[in-house]
Amino acid sequence: MTAIPRNQWYVAAYSQEVGDELLGRTICGEPIVLYRTGDGTAVGLADRCVHRRYPLSLSGRDGDRIVCGYHGFTYEPSGACVYVPGQARIPRTARVPSYPVVEQDSLVWVWIGDPTGADPAVIPRAPWLDRPGWTAVRGMEPLAARFGLLVDNLLDLSHETYLHGGYIGTPEVAETPIVTRVDEEAGIVYVSRHMADAACPPFYAKSTGITGRITRWQDIEFTPPCLYLLHSRIAPVGVLPGADGADPDAYHVEVVYALTPETEHSTHDFWAVARDFALDDQGVSDFLAENNRTVVLQDVAALNVLEQVIATEPDGYQELSINIDTGGLAARRMIAKLR
Ligand code: FES
Ligand SMILES: [Fe+2]
Repeated sequence: MTAIPRNQWYVAAYSQEVGDELLGRTICGEPIVLYRTGDGTAVGLADRCVHRRYPLSLSGRDGDRIVCGYHGFTYEPSGACVYVPGQARIPRTARVPSYPVVEQDSLVWVWIGDPTGADPAVIPRAPWLDRPGWTAVRGMEPLAARFGLLVDNLLDLSHETYLHGGYIGTPEVAETPIVTRVDEEAGIVYVSRHMADAACPPFYAKSTGITGRITRWQDIEFTPPCLYLLHSRIAPVGVLPGADGADPDAYHVEVVYALTPETEHSTHDFWAVARDFALDDQGVSDFLAENNRTVVLQDVAALNVLEQVIATEPDGYQELSINIDTGGLAARRMIAKLR
């Protein structure tokens, strides 16, 4: 099973979650407090006071500083302690670690590992989440299962037919073979499933208004360990992009997941659905948000069960893998190399 790779960027929060309040969130087993300074900069500090471990996320702010809610140790956004009670001398070791933080595409990324390796240029992009011409809905569900189970789940969408029937699954998803490609140099796994003539599941029928059968393309692009993109193209049967790539008669949905380990056995399941149609239609936004959350919770329920199954199985249990697992197995290999 896949363990957590360190020295990596992970999504810690949506931008909108980080503000004046102190937000505590555990990432890869490390408790972190996130907040925004007066000039709007997002900050991440270790969420443990150096004195007696009190969580800084349960404390208060004095301007850009955090004042520990237990005995008042006061920290700068850099993590340096600038006040201790009852004495003028501040111990040299009075500092909490600060995390490299980068905010882009409405996601707050933190670097877990040796901070000298944190290169913002390698963070994968999800530009549809805050790009003009697109509308996005989003959420995050806690998963009581290891992150590797969510990797398996998202890299193999044949499960849509069985686990998500009546929402996004139709028989064609499980029946249509996939094409998998691994770009070792870029560190990306691609899995494609193009259905030429498929039933339109309620998720797309209700949001696009298409009534008949559809051409449905699913193109997965996973950049381990954290960012998963599903480029979804929906069009009436036979409607294809032009030779120049223009595709005005199709509906495009970008499904974005950030898979962030909380601990070895729990995961933050960030999900977002961006679309290039019905941009101002609140009814469509509400429908997609509610429907996708339901779908995510179906996955959460199944993976929570699997985590319990794994916890009780004897050592050496052997899985059986088939063609549909090619992408998931490639992702596992890539993640193993990151460690
Ligand atoms: S635990 Fe923070 S000041 Fe004592
Ligand atoms: Fe699913």
